[in-house]
Amino acid sequence: MEVKGVKLEIGYGGRIVVPEFDITLRRGEITTIIGPNGSGKSTVMKAVTRLLKYTKGTVCLDGEDLKNVNAAVLARCMGVLPQRHNAPPDFKVRDLVGYGRVPYQKWYQRNSRQDEEVVDWALKVTGTWALRDKFINECSGGEAQRVWIATVLAQQPDILFLDEPTTYLDIAHQQETMRLVKKLNSENGIGVVMVLHDLSQALEVSDRIIVIKNGRKYSEGGPLEVITPQMLREVYNVECDVLQIPGRSKPLLAFKEIV
Ligand SMILES: Nc1ncnc2c1ncn2[C@@H]1O[C@H](COP(=O)(O)OP(=O)(O)OP(=O)(O)O)[C@@H](O)[C@H]1O
Ligand SMILES: [Mg+2]
Repeated sequence: MEVKGVKLEIGYGGRIVVPEFDITLRRGEITTIIGPNGSGKSTVMKAVTRLLKYTKGTVCLDGEDLKNVNAAVLARCMGVLPQRHNAPPDFKVRDLVGYGRVPYQKWYQRNSRQDEEVVDWALKVTGTWALRDKFINECSGGEAQRVWIATVLAQQPDILFLDEPTTYLDIAHQQETMRLVKKLNSENGIGVVMVLHDLSQALEVSDRIIVIKNGRKYSEGGPLEVITPQMLREVYNVECDVLQIPGRSKPLLAFKEIV
């Protein structure tokens, strides 16, 4: 499966934020979008998942214009975790995750045995099983974030779109989430498109990284090609060395000391 955006112009209420953007996303790959706050990462992600209208260009899902794809089919192809989300506070965790199954259900047939099994699986792999009978507003920020990831997983999409999935998570749960993303990708062949701010994590898990600066693509490629001292300087205005460490497969980022 492939999602291809060509010459996308995207904006809000007449203000163009992304003037011309090309992007190709494939099942099987982990693609990470990085860039400063306000550079357009969420905007691009929303446009290619049909959450936001673009004013020029096209997005195709396996060659078919996204505008013509049926909603349930779309939900089975793309699972989207937006940067911001909210649910009615009186939702139980298990019911919320169960909503991920809706694209698979007929109106006359809710919650089959298979749906229940998928929901249980999503709760377990995200470490939210123990929360299943809580209300969502009784969860901490990090717990709620993991519940949302479970909801998208229950959708069993071909490609997962995760906008800052590790925000609010402690370091152990951040690593757990990255490990889960890797595992879903390698064992289930699920494609993952993420927005991350942690460049070390991006370096570690991505097959491909896309860098956005001021609504335009600055660079794209393998993590080692993209994460360079020059990119950090030009895009983030930050001084950083990329250090090769014996015994580690990926380099470490050493930011200039704060004085
Ligand atoms: N709903 C909206 N209405 C109007 N302008 C918006 C809206 N959402 C985003 N923008 C503007 O579009 C630009 C890009 O925003 P976007 O949310 O895509 O940035 P981002 O790269 O995801 O940033 P962050 O890292 O802070 O999440 C910003 O200038 C922002 O102010
Ligand atoms: Mg964003």
